[in-house]
Amino acid sequence: MTIVVAHVSDTHFGGPPDARRRAEAVLDHLLALDPAPDVLLVSGDVADHGLPEEYAEARAVLDRWPGPRLVGTGNHDVREPFARGLLDVELAPGPLVQVLEAADFRILMLDSLVPARDGTRIDHGELSADQLAWLDEQLGSDDRPVLLSLHHPPADLGLGLMAPILLKDPEPLELVVMQHSHVVATLVGHAHTACATTFAGRPLLVGGGCASTVPLDAEPYPVVWEAGPPTLAFHLLHDDGRLTTHWRALPWGGEA
Ligand SMILES: [Fe+2]
Ligand SMILES: [Fe+2]
Repeated sequence: MTIVVAHVSDTHFGGPPDARRRAEAVLDHLLALDPAPDVLLVSGDVADHGLPEEYAEARAVLDRWPGPRLVGTGNHDVREPFARGLLDVELAPGPLVQVLEAADFRILMLDSLVPARDGTRIDHGELSADQLAWLDEQLGSDDRPVLLSLHHPPADLGLGLMAPILLKDPEPLELVVMQHSHVVATLVGHAHTACATTFAGRPLLVGGGCASTVPLDAEPYPVVWEAGPPTLAFHLLHDDGRLTTHWRALPWGGEA
């Protein structure tokens, strides 16, 4: 049976004026699907400023999804209000790693958020040695197919805006993934575009951008194209272990 993961990223609640309306449109689309996707994955930048009220708004929208969901942090998120607002947990300082268990597969979610320093948001991503050890242990203890997720792409995507704020030092992550052939793909956000490349010899798939789109440098759009359509991805994990990704741009008004 094919497993379908609906992958939404970068909702940025509290950011662009239409952020909530865009997220609602994405949920409307997902809730109209028959049959429903198996899982909703949200790969970070849920809130724009990491404020409790932004997470309350996000919760109100995401709670419309009745099925399993896994929501990770991004550079715009703040761990404590994120954990309290979306996961109902009081969080000890430190990365928020998560596992979504299903009968035939797992999603392992890393936390590449670097907390703000002196009140200034840090936009690149980092993974601690502890997280990598956790990932290696998780992968070594179970051979079900794994979709690995984190916010920051661990490889260059050819976007000038993103190049300085990718995952810093991706080689240790690459080494871990290379040692485990049951990692099917790495699913990320942050780049606000529907695109695919490779990492550790596996697909590296960006889930699109809900709040806005980051176009190619060469395209005649703003660097952050706020009028661009909300995009999302559907990852289909087939019985034979292959993954097919379909990206969808939802109808959206407005001009660049
Ligand atoms: Fe973002
Ligand atoms: Fe981001």
